[in-house]
Amino acid sequence: MTSLSKNIAVLISGGGTNLQAIIDNTENNYINGKIKIVISNREDAYGLIRAKKAGIPAFCIKDDEKLLSKLQDNKIDLIILAGYLKILPEKITQIYENKIINIHPSLIPAFCGRGYYGLKVHEAVIKRGVKYTGATTHFVNEGADEGPIIMQKIVEVEGENPEELQQKVLKVEHEILPKSVKYFCEDKLKLVDGKVVIGG
Ligand code: GRF
Repeated sequence: MTSLSKNIAVLISGGGTNLQAIIDNTENNYINGKIKIVISNREDAYGLIRAKKAGIPAFCIKDDEKLLSKLQDNKIDLIILAGYLKILPEKITQIYENKIINIHPSLIPAFCGRGYYGLKVHEAVIKRGVKYTGATTHFVNEGADEGPIIMQKIVEVEGENPEELQQKVLKVEHEILPKSVKYFCEDKLKLVDGKVVIGG
Protein backbone atom coordinates (compact mmCIF):
# COMPACT_ATOMS: atom_id res chain seq x y z
CA MET A 1 0.00 0.00 0.00
CA THR A 2 1.42 3.40 -0.85
CA SER A 3 1.62 5.91 2.00
CA LEU A 4 0.23 9.43 1.84
CA SER A 5 2.65 12.17 0.83
CA LYS A 6 4.35 13.58 3.95
CA ASN A 7 4.60 17.27 4.86
CA ILE A 8 8.25 18.12 5.40
CA ALA A 9 9.95 21.05 7.17
CA VAL A 10 13.67 21.56 6.58
CA LEU A 11 15.61 23.51 9.22
CA ILE A 12 18.93 25.05 8.23
CA SER A 13 21.55 27.52 9.39
CA GLY A 14 23.87 27.74 6.41
CA GLY A 15 24.56 26.98 2.77
CA GLY A 16 21.94 24.29 2.41
CA THR A 17 23.53 21.75 0.07
CA ASN A 18 21.66 19.02 1.95
CA LEU A 19 18.47 21.06 1.60
CA GLN A 20 19.16 21.20 -2.14
CA ALA A 21 19.52 17.40 -2.23
CA ILE A 22 16.08 17.09 -0.59
CA ILE A 23 14.55 19.68 -2.96
CA ASP A 24 15.92 17.80 -5.99
CA ASN A 25 14.73 14.44 -4.72
CA THR A 26 11.21 15.64 -3.95
CA GLU A 27 10.97 17.35 -7.34
CA ASN A 28 11.93 14.12 -9.14
CA ASN A 29 9.54 12.11 -6.90
CA TYR A 30 12.28 9.90 -5.42
CA ILE A 31 10.87 11.11 -2.09
CA ASN A 32 7.11 10.84 -1.58
CA GLY A 33 6.84 14.11 0.30
CA LYS A 34 6.48 17.86 -0.07
CA ILE A 35 8.74 20.45 1.52
CA LYS A 36 6.10 22.78 2.99
CA ILE A 37 8.51 25.17 4.71
CA VAL A 38 12.21 25.93 5.11
CA ILE A 39 13.23 27.63 8.34
CA SER A 40 16.57 29.15 9.24
CA ASN A 41 17.66 30.60 12.57
CA ARG A 42 19.96 32.95 10.62
CA GLU A 43 18.67 35.52 8.15
CA ASP A 44 21.81 35.32 5.98
CA ALA A 45 21.65 31.54 5.38
CA TYR A 46 22.06 30.86 1.65
CA GLY A 47 19.64 27.94 2.04
CA LEU A 48 16.80 30.47 2.33
CA ILE A 49 17.60 31.63 -1.20
CA ARG A 50 17.72 28.04 -2.46
CA ALA A 51 14.23 27.52 -0.99
CA LYS A 52 12.82 30.68 -2.58
CA LYS A 53 14.30 29.70 -5.95
CA ALA A 54 12.43 26.41 -5.66
CA GLY A 55 9.19 28.23 -4.76
CA ILE A 56 9.16 26.95 -1.17
CA PRO A 57 8.01 29.30 1.64
CA ALA A 58 11.13 30.18 3.64
CA PHE A 59 11.40 31.99 6.97
CA CYS A 60 13.97 33.13 9.48
CA ILE A 61 12.68 32.15 12.93
CA LYS A 62 14.80 32.41 16.06
CA ASP A 63 12.17 31.92 18.74
CA ASP A 64 11.36 28.28 19.64
CA GLU A 65 7.67 28.93 20.42
CA LYS A 66 7.21 30.61 17.04
CA LEU A 67 9.04 27.71 15.42
CA LEU A 68 6.67 25.19 17.04
CA SER A 69 3.59 27.17 15.92
CA LYS A 70 4.91 27.30 12.37
CA LEU A 71 5.47 23.54 12.35
CA GLN A 72 2.00 22.85 13.76
CA ASP A 73 0.24 25.35 11.47
CA ASN A 74 1.78 23.55 8.50
CA LYS A 75 0.82 20.07 9.77
CA ILE A 76 4.41 18.90 9.51
CA ASP A 77 4.98 15.11 9.57
CA LEU A 78 8.78 15.18 9.30
CA ILE A 79 11.38 17.72 10.36
CA ILE A 80 14.79 17.50 8.71
CA LEU A 81 17.74 19.16 10.41
CA ALA A 82 20.04 19.90 7.48
CA GLY A 83 22.87 21.83 9.06
CA TYR A 84 20.69 23.44 11.77
CA LEU A 85 23.17 24.66 14.35
CA LYS A 86 20.70 25.32 17.17
CA ILE A 87 19.70 22.67 19.69
CA LEU A 88 15.94 22.04 19.54
CA PRO A 89 14.12 22.40 22.90
CA GLU A 90 12.87 19.21 24.57
CA LYS A 91 9.28 20.34 24.01
CA ILE A 92 9.77 20.04 20.24
CA THR A 93 11.83 16.81 20.34
CA GLN A 94 9.12 15.20 22.49
CA ILE A 95 6.19 16.28 20.31
CA TYR A 96 8.04 15.08 17.20
CA GLU A 97 9.59 11.92 18.67
CA ASN A 98 11.05 9.79 15.84
CA LYS A 99 9.87 12.42 13.38
CA ILE A 100 13.04 14.53 13.29
CA ILE A 101 15.98 13.41 11.15
CA ASN A 102 19.45 14.95 11.52
CA ILE A 103 22.47 14.54 9.26
CA HIS A 104 25.88 14.52 10.95
CA PRO A 105 29.21 14.55 9.09
CA SER A 106 30.96 11.70 10.94
CA LEU A 107 30.40 8.07 11.85
CA ILE A 108 28.45 8.45 15.11
CA PRO A 109 29.40 7.78 17.95
CA ALA A 110 32.80 9.15 16.84
CA PHE A 111 33.34 12.91 16.51
CA CYS A 112 29.85 13.95 17.55
CA GLY A 113 28.05 15.71 20.39
CA ARG A 114 28.52 19.22 21.68
CA GLY A 115 31.20 21.23 19.90
CA TYR A 116 31.42 18.90 16.91
CA TYR A 117 29.90 20.83 14.03
CA GLY A 118 31.01 22.14 10.65
CA LEU A 119 34.74 22.06 9.93
CA LYS A 120 35.50 21.23 13.56
CA VAL A 121 34.40 17.64 12.92
CA HIS A 122 36.77 17.18 9.99
CA GLU A 123 39.65 18.92 11.78
CA ALA A 124 39.24 16.51 14.71
CA VAL A 125 39.08 13.51 12.36
CA ILE A 126 42.35 14.54 10.68
CA LYS A 127 44.03 15.35 14.00
CA ARG A 128 43.17 11.92 15.40
CA GLY A 129 44.46 10.22 12.26
CA VAL A 130 41.51 7.91 11.74
CA LYS A 131 41.59 6.18 8.36
CA TYR A 132 37.86 6.24 7.76
CA THR A 133 35.15 8.77 8.52
CA GLY A 134 31.73 9.24 6.96
CA ALA A 135 28.23 10.50 7.56
CA THR A 136 25.29 9.43 9.71
CA THR A 137 21.57 10.09 9.65
CA HIS A 138 19.69 9.62 12.91
CA PHE A 139 16.47 10.45 14.69
CA VAL A 140 16.78 13.34 17.10
CA ASN A 141 16.11 13.01 20.81
CA GLU A 142 17.00 15.36 23.69
CA GLY A 143 20.70 14.32 23.62
CA ALA A 144 23.21 15.83 21.18
CA ASP A 145 23.64 13.39 18.25
CA GLU A 146 22.38 10.54 20.46
CA GLY A 147 19.13 9.39 18.84
CA PRO A 148 18.64 6.10 16.95
CA ILE A 149 20.92 5.76 13.91
CA ILE A 150 19.16 5.39 10.56
CA MET A 151 21.97 5.15 7.99
CA GLN A 152 25.74 5.53 7.75
CA LYS A 153 28.20 5.66 4.87
CA ILE A 154 31.98 5.43 5.02
CA VAL A 155 34.53 7.81 3.46
CA GLU A 156 38.26 7.01 3.35
CA VAL A 157 40.59 9.66 4.77
CA GLU A 158 43.44 10.04 2.26
CA GLY A 159 45.48 13.06 3.28
CA GLU A 160 42.86 15.74 2.58
CA ASN A 161 42.77 19.06 4.39
CA PRO A 162 39.60 19.77 6.47
CA GLU A 163 37.86 21.66 3.64
CA GLU A 164 38.56 18.87 1.13
CA LEU A 165 37.40 16.21 3.57
CA GLN A 166 34.24 18.21 4.23
CA GLN A 167 33.44 18.21 0.50
CA LYS A 168 34.12 14.47 0.26
CA VAL A 169 31.82 13.74 3.20
CA LEU A 170 29.11 16.09 1.86
CA LYS A 171 28.88 13.87 -1.25
CA VAL A 172 27.82 10.89 0.86
CA GLU A 173 25.55 13.10 3.00
CA HIS A 174 23.69 13.94 -0.20
CA GLU A 175 23.15 10.19 -0.76
CA ILE A 176 22.11 9.00 2.68
CA LEU A 177 19.93 11.96 3.69
CA PRO A 178 17.52 11.71 0.72
CA LYS A 179 17.52 7.90 1.09
CA SER A 180 16.65 8.10 4.80
CA VAL A 181 13.91 10.63 4.06
CA LYS A 182 12.55 8.45 1.27
CA TYR A 183 12.27 5.47 3.66
CA PHE A 184 10.65 7.64 6.33
CA CYS A 185 8.07 8.89 3.83
CA GLU A 186 7.29 5.29 2.86
CA ASP A 187 6.81 4.34 6.55
CA LYS A 188 9.75 1.94 6.30
CA LEU A 189 11.71 3.10 9.36
CA LYS A 190 10.66 1.03 12.38
CA LEU A 191 11.96 1.35 15.93
CA VAL A 192 12.75 -2.02 17.50
CA ASP A 193 14.33 -1.96 20.99
CA GLY A 194 15.39 1.63 20.42
CA LYS A 195 17.12 0.81 17.13
CA VAL A 196 16.03 1.62 13.60
CA VAL A 197 15.17 -1.30 11.37
CA ILE A 198 14.54 -0.56 7.69
CA GLY A 199 11.67 -2.74 6.60
CA GLY A 200 9.20 -3.30 3.81
C1 GRF B 1 26.62 19.22 6.89
O1 GRF B 1 27.95 18.78 6.95
C2 GRF B 1 25.77 18.50 7.89
O2 GRF B 1 26.16 17.18 8.11
C3 GRF B 1 25.98 19.29 9.14
O3 GRF B 1 26.06 20.64 8.69
C4 GRF B 1 26.50 20.67 7.33
C5 GRF B 1 25.48 21.44 6.55
O4 GRF B 1 25.87 21.61 5.22
N1 GRF B 1 24.98 19.01 10.12
P1 GRF B 1 24.85 22.21 4.16
O5 GRF B 1 24.32 23.52 4.73
O6 GRF B 1 23.77 21.20 3.95
O7 GRF B 1 25.66 22.43 2.92
